[in-house]
Amino acid sequence: MVGFRTRLGAAALLAGLAGATLAAAMAIAGPDPARLASQGLPEAGVPPCAACHGAKGEGLESQGAPRLAGLNAGYIGAQLDAFRSGRRKYAMMNAVAHGLSPDQSAALAAYYASLPPPAAPPVSPAASTQEALGRDLALRGDWAKGVPPCAACHAPDGLGVGAVTPALAGQGRAYLLGELRRFASGERAGDPLGLMRAVAGRLTPAQMRAVAAYYASRPAGANTDGGPS
Ligand code: HEC
Ligand code: HEC
Repeated sequence: MVGFRTRLGAAALLAGLAGATLAAAMAIAGPDPARLASQGLPEAGVPPCAACHGAKGEGLESQGAPRLAGLNAGYIGAQLDAFRSGRRKYAMMNAVAHGLSPDQSAALAAYYASLPPPAAPPVSPAASTQEALGRDLALRGDWAKGVPPCAACHAPDGLGVGAVTPALAGQGRAYLLGELRRFASGERAGDPLGLMRAVAGRLTPAQMRAVAAYYASRPAGANTDGGPS
């Protein structure tokens, strides 16, 4: 019994030491983004990202919160900056971004970029007329109104290009539609050279709905659309 207790004591001591070492290592290594994502930063009034963006960064349509998993780290970081400065307005995210240090923002951006995008959305057997219209706009544009194909900047598969142009494929329909409206009204600014404000400002409400439906139906992780046909 004594031996058992001693061993238990030693194990507890070792566990305590390991814990202390881990805590010290984390302090040196900087913020722990997985913890920030799941627990937030109560002392700075930052709720867990997961509460709105989902446990795996998959996005929650019910919260109007986009998917973050698999987005480009540079893009995520730039958006957190835009929310912090107020160039991009959205009260909840403005408050969240204010509560994060630059190190924490950078760590979270790298963390979410490293998570796999969610599996492809269920594919409807026959694409709706709206999706077909959206596909046309996405891949061919509407030159009569000076709207280039979305694919020219967002890549043919809608997966985005580097840190500047984000992925649209597999993002929620309501989120995409909401952002197009915010660009058009100027509520969302901070887009490089005002490119997206110019594009969104030329779209009709019906075109916005159609292209949002199209990209929401596209898989987030693979190029399966052959291009204009
Ligand atoms: C209270 C809910 C809520 C919390 C908590 C929250 N977000 Fe958000 N987030 C949103 C919503 C809603 C949007 C969409 C804003 C808009 O429509 O412009 C958003 C947008 C974003 C975007 C822009 C993505 C894009 O595709 O442009 C990033 C990046 C982001 N959030 C990161 C975070 C991080 C990191 C955390 C945790 C530190 C976090 N959010 C916590 C609700 C939340
Ligand atoms: C000339 C290049 C260009 C074209 C064409 C373009 N976009 Fe964009 N788009 C951008 C850039 C750059 C951003 C990032 C803006 C920012 O940093 O806030 C963006 C952002 C977006 C976002 C926000 C995504 C998010 O995660 O928050 C949506 C939605 C969007 N574009 C939809 C479209 C649609 C739909 C079309 C076609 C009708 C289109 N874009 C055409 C350059 C372009």
